[in-house]
Amino acid sequence: MRRLIATFGTAMSKASRIDGKAMAAELSAQVTSETAALLEDHGLVPGLAVVITGEDPASQVYVRNKKRTAEACGFHSVQHTLATDVSQEDVLALIDRLNNDMDIHGILVQLPLPAHLDEQVVTQAISPAKDVDGFHYVNIGKLTSGNTGDAFIPCTPAGCMLMIEKHLGKDLSGKHAVVIGRSNIVGKPMASLLLQQNATVTVTHSRTSDLPAVVREADIVVAAVGRPNMVRGDWIKPGAVVIDVGINRIEVTENGEQKFKLTGDIAYDEVCAVAAAATPVPGGVGPMTIVMLMANTLRAARLSAGLESA
Ligand code: GUN
Repeated sequence: MRRLIATFGTAMSKASRIDGKAMAAELSAQVTSETAALLEDHGLVPGLAVVITGEDPASQVYVRNKKRTAEACGFHSVQHTLATDVSQEDVLALIDRLNNDMDIHGILVQLPLPAHLDEQVVTQAISPAKDVDGFHYVNIGKLTSGNTGDAFIPCTPAGCMLMIEKHLGKDLSGKHAVVIGRSNIVGKPMASLLLQQNATVTVTHSRTSDLPAVVREADIVVAAVGRPNMVRGDWIKPGAVVIDVGINRIEVTENGEQKFKLTGDIAYDEVCAVAAAATPVPGGVGPMTIVMLMANTLRAARLSAGLESA
């Protein structure tokens, strides 16, 4: 009987919730105090320019949050809102202006872009030294070759790594990490970062066969596919650390009213019954992504003034 109770207790035990909101608040306070010190000691204010094109409602929310956080950190923050039908020439001219603006240290062009704009041409036009998204080939090359000294690491994977580190420490030797999704923004840089910390990494995607079986082998799972509740509890190895990058807006009916609800890629309650730790949505990876953007911008400002070495 005692044995039964013990087993039952384990099965029902809740994973610890990795509180991205609290971690982000702590990091944000650190960025704010370092920004104040940079002004006091060197008269320098980090400047972030965010460019948004089109009407995508999710992008508008993200950009508003980025601007609000930049201001709260004490940054010089500018937003350029361009019409959906803006020409590529005009977008490139704006990026060129921002590349040469001494008050701007970080430039972010919110993705996705309207279909007529070439995402690669636009992201590669940003100076690598101001590429706080880490999307420029120079920064991607530095990351994948392990030369991260003065590289900008994409914000979402950088935030995920801090959350993993909180539970497992920096060295992931002997751990098997499974990344679900192979995007340039999350999946690929995530794999590089995990590899750099000595994890054994598997990157899975829509053509992977028997995905649940692959995920069941993982000590660390990073889900970045954009499919609500796709990763189920019975995919998870007991004791795994699960990071949910998905931010899916799903329509729900509550008291007869149609509403939008944010849901991740993992079935959170099911996963929590098995995992050691998991990130919620909202309040997990999202706030960490924003604060990593602030950390990258502060770093860009410091690097521009020769105050930080590679
Ligand atoms: N759209 C969704 N995530 C991101 C991001 O991290 N950076 C940019 N620029 N656009 C995004």
